[in-house]
Amino acid sequence: MTDRSDRSIRNQWGRISAHLLGGVPLILLGWQLVQGRLGFNPVESVLRWTGRLALGLLLLSLSVTPIRKIFKISAISAMRKPLGLYAALYAFLHFSVFALWDYQLNIRQIYLEISNKPFILLGMIALLILLVLAATSFRFWQRKLGRKWVWLHRSVYAAALLVILHYLLAVKGDLFSLQGAYAPPLIAAGILVLLLILRIPAIQQCLRPTFTQQEPDQPASD
Ligand code: HEM
Repeated sequence: MTDRSDRSIRNQWGRISAHLLGGVPLILLGWQLVQGRLGFNPVESVLRWTGRLALGLLLLSLSVTPIRKIFKISAISAMRKPLGLYAALYAFLHFSVFALWDYQLNIRQIYLEISNKPFILLGMIALLILLVLAATSFRFWQRKLGRKWVWLHRSVYAAALLVILHYLLAVKGDLFSLQGAYAPPLIAAGILVLLLILRIPAIQQCLRPTFTQQEPDQPASD
């Protein structure tokens, strides 16, 4: 098999895996909703799950490049864009549940809710960034914007940071005495810090030999 068709099959597997990761939870959530299995407050359940899935997929899409570089698994490159697009889709669904389902687009009520819970504003800014990144994720914009595209798409880290703050502030409890369900947003914050550290070229170079060492009689993977 030629190198090219080999690479295109690996890319296809990468894309299929990303669609499974992004699509299956949506189908399961829809199914649970239709079956009435989301408890006595389905709006809150859907709001929570779409938010968590959006954040999870966002962090997964950010993990693709470090994993590819450190473990030299080029096949997963194809996962980054669909995972990012799914994250934006879930974030948009999350917003729609809030604005359309919970508040029936009652602008006055939404404004009052934002005044009481400023963490919603952080989510709105993050959503705006994710939607701009999703809209410009196509090759046309990549070619049109050139170097600026790379800088624009780095703002995904700012979006992830805003989402984690949004999550931390949405938790009911006290962060300083850790009373409340703070573990998930703190784990997400730890993952984001790790991903930022793994972007440092010197760290990548240090880790590469450790993880890409071949078994004596195995062929090189990439
Ligand atoms: C217009 C934008 C947004 C609005 C209006 C919004 C609204 C909300 C609200 C009202 C909650 C509290 C839910 C509760 O108390 O149970 C919440 C929680 C959350 N949101 Fe958002 N959000 C927005 C953007 C985002 C984005 C962009 C993400 C992720 C990419 C996100 C992820 C989350 C997460 C993870 C939670 C916590 C869920 C949990 O309790 O487990 N939000 N959001």
